[in-house]
Amino acid sequence: MAETESALQAIENGLAALGTRFRDAFAKAENEQALRVEQAKVLGKKGELTAVLGLLKGVLPADRPAAGARINVFKEQVEQAFSQRLKEIHRQARDAELSALPFDLSLPGRTELGRGHLHPVAQTRDALLAIFRDLGFAVGAGPEVELEANNFTKLAFPPDHPATDMQDSFWVDVAGAQPGARTLLRTHTSAVQIREMSSHRPPMAVVSAGSVFRRDDDLTHSPMFHQIEGFMVDEGVSFAHLKAVVGAFAERLYGPGTPVRFRPSYFPFVEPGAEVDAGCAFCVRPDGSHAGCRVCKQSGWLELLGCGMIHPDVLRHCGIDSEKYTGFAFGLGIDRVAMLRYGIPNIRLLFENDPRFLSQF
Ligand code: PHE
Repeated sequence: MAETESALQAIENGLAALGTRFRDAFAKAENEQALRVEQAKVLGKKGELTAVLGLLKGVLPADRPAAGARINVFKEQVEQAFSQRLKEIHRQARDAELSALPFDLSLPGRTELGRGHLHPVAQTRDALLAIFRDLGFAVGAGPEVELEANNFTKLAFPPDHPATDMQDSFWVDVAGAQPGARTLLRTHTSAVQIREMSSHRPPMAVVSAGSVFRRDDDLTHSPMFHQIEGFMVDEGVSFAHLKAVVGAFAERLYGPGTPVRFRPSYFPFVEPGAEVDAGCAFCVRPDGSHAGCRVCKQSGWLELLGCGMIHPDVLRHCGIDSEKYTGFAFGLGIDRVAMLRYGIPNIRLLFENDPRFLSQF
């Protein structure tokens, strides 16, 4: 009996001492982390209460339930004191925040994240599209995986044209495609002409821009590159209209007074066809003559685009009356213009997407 009493007494003493100690420690804890550490010292597995629990062994079985209940009450007291102090700590932190000096709104913002911007090819694309939009063209679009018919056949490419070779085109199998309808990654944006002319009626003037794909890979050719294509169809559209549009475009791109020259050329879907050069904007003298430079290879001219009068067969393939309507079309590479615009020597730099390179534009 005496043993039990002294064990009970020891528990009571232990709890009393612990009670004073933890209340004091909780009150001194200045933040949540310190408070949690203090709570663990009391209630944790190796905590002080566990030591007191060890004393239960010395208590008579009949007295144990009462002693256990006493310890549970103590535990609850600890938990209650803990959550009360935690609330206090939170309130104090909030008060300190509210009574502190207000944020200095004039401080500069954090800039370490940096600000993104459009890729130089996208910037150039948008600049070119804006010129044609100003000239009255609508903006259309087509898919990058294209039917052979839209990319070649309706554009009057003969079936044995070298561009259709395995060497030049990426042919792809499309699940669920119509049997016999071959598909490829479009080799040029001229396919959009076919789509637009097959789905709309003249008068129409449309430009479109996007990625095109060819089996080409060297300093100035990439298997994926970008083109802008434009065309206009109406009654009485002539080569003079083409010259006017191309001339206006060159002046807006390279500056007022930029001359253009037309060289006869061949594309299956135009007749006549031409390639157009613009006076080199990099070595032009104030009087309009050219000094000759590396960019234009001393010629004073830069290749600008391919163009021509839309072949009547192409109009017919799209269901447009070629007796009534005529039209012109042109196409140019965006990447080359971007390279000239920013002085980029290697087309691959455009597609490696190295932030150290891209952040310069
Ligand atoms: N599609 C031609 C090419 O990729 C460019 C072009 C477009 C030529 C329109 C004439 C008319 O080379």
